[in-house]
Amino acid sequence: MPIKTFALISLSAAGAVLADNVDIAKLPAAADKEVDFVKDIKPLFEQSCFSCHGSKPRAKSKYFMNQRDTAIEGGSSKEAAIVVGKSANSPLVHFIADLVEELEMPPLDKRDKYPQLTDEQVALVRAWIDQGAKWPDGVELSLAK
Ligand code: HEC
Repeated sequence: MPIKTFALISLSAAGAVLADNVDIAKLPAAADKEVDFVKDIKPLFEQSCFSCHGSKPRAKSKYFMNQRDTAIEGGSSKEAAIVVGKSANSPLVHFIADLVEELEMPPLDKRDKYPQLTDEQVALVRAWIDQGAKWPDGVELSLAK
């Protein structure tokens, strides 16, 4: 009999929603190549994330993706968004792969402006995290034109 997995959602004091149980078997596999942050990842974050997460003094869920440390740290959920070296355990990956209901990133109703990442792009983000989430010093995101 097929086993159904449900994402259990809990509400934190800050109002942020965290998934306790995510079906990581549904994640696209990490890309099998050496990832270059500036070339492969930065443009994706700038196009699909940065408008809400760092381009303004107030970021959604107080999550700033401008630079490496805050991108890893997470926002008001108080949970790390990126677990360096472990993409399958990284909430950011769960969110961009639409594995967590209500926390699909970019939000489902905003995808006309902020495109959903393709499976290939999720695979690149996974590889980037697995390879240490390397982010050259001094590089910051900027608004995509
Ligand atoms: C249109 C605005 C918008 C865009 C674009 C967007 N997000 Fe979000 N993001 C939100 C909102 C709103 C929340 C808070 C959701 C909640 O807690 O219910 C959030 C929460 C998050 C969180 C949880 C932060 C925390 O610790 O509380 C992460 C991680 C995240 N987003 C990653 C991303 C990534 C990665 C992208 C791009 C692929 C992205 N978001 C694109 C609006 C956006």
